Amino acid sequence: MLSELSGFTGYLNGEYAPVNDLKISVLDRGFIFGDGVYEVIPIYSRKPFHLENHLIRLQNSLDGIRLSNPHTNSEWRDLIQKMINLHPWEDQYVYLQITRGVARRDHGFPKETTHTVFMMTNPWTAPAAELLTNGVAAVTAEDQRWLRCHLKTTALLANVLMRQYAIDHGAVEVILLRDGFMTEGSASNILGVKNGVLLAPPKDNLILPGITYDVILKLAEEEHIPLEIRNISENEVLNADELLLTSSTKEIMPITRLNDKPVANGKPGPIFHQLYKAYQLAKPY
Ligand code: PDD
Repeated sequence: MLSELSGFTGYLNGEYAPVNDLKISVLDRGFIFGDGVYEVIPIYSRKPFHLENHLIRLQNSLDGIRLSNPHTNSEWRDLIQKMINLHPWEDQYVYLQITRGVARRDHGFPKETTHTVFMMTNPWTAPAAELLTNGVAAVTAEDQRWLRCHLKTTALLANVLMRQYAIDHGAVEVILLRDGFMTEGSASNILGVKNGVLLAPPKDNLILPGITYDVILKLAEEEHIPLEIRNISENEVLNADELLLTSSTKEIMPITRLNDKPVANGKPGPIFHQLYKAYQLAKPY
C-alpha cells in the first residue's frame, strides 16, 4: 500500500526525502500521546491558498498546547514552497505537523523540548462532478470530543471514530451535535440555509475555526447573501433548506441527505450554487 507513495517527497526535521524513508522515534510524543498540532493547506496553481490564515491558526494551536513555534512565518513559507516545488502537481494539499518531540514517556512536558516537524504533500483533485450535482449524505451524531476543538491537534481519535460512524451508515460526514446544537463535521465545518439566510455556528471553542469557513462567509457577504452567525439547533439542522460542508480539501459541498432522508427537495440548492461559483472564481487560476 505504501508503494503508491513512491515519488512523494516528505520533510522531517530539516530533511527532504522520499516520504517512505522518513522515520520517527517510537518515543515521539506525537506517537505516544497525540501531543502535536497540524495544518492542511490547499495549493492551487502551485500557490498556497490563504497561507497567512493557516499560519495564524497554527500559532494559535501551538499556543493552545503550550508548544513554541519552531519556525518563523517566512521560514514556513519557504519550507512549504519548496515542498510544492518538489512535486509536479499544479494543485496539491500540504499537510504539516509539529509534535512535542522525543522524550522518555511521561505525561508532563519534557524539560527540554525538541520539536518534530513533519510535512508532506498530496495531489489535490476536485470532488467528482457527481458529488456536486447530487450532493452527499450525512448523519447526525453526538459530539464526543473535548472542549478545545478550536485547536487543530493531531489527537483525532474521536474524529476518526465519528467519521467511521458516518461511513458505516453510508454517509461521507457526520454533523455533530452538542447539547442540542450543531458544532461541525468530523473534518469539516457545516453551514445551514433557511429561507435564503446562511446560518453559521460561531467560532468558539467547540469548533475548528475553518479557513474555508472564513472564505465562504466573506464571499457570502460579497454576494449579498444574508448571514446569521449563531447557534443552530438540532431541529434547525433537521429542517434546513440547505446544508453545506466546507473544508480545505473538499472546498464547499452540498449535503442533500441527512439521516437517510432528503434535505429539503434532496438537490443542491441555490445558495450552494452561488457560493460554489464564487469560491471557484476566488481561486488563483
Ligand atoms: N480538516 N473542522 C474540523 C474538525 C476539521 O478537521 C477541518 C479540516 C475543518 C475545516 O477547516 P479548513 O477549512 O481550515 O480546512 C473543520 C482537514 C482538512 C483535515 O483534517 O484533513
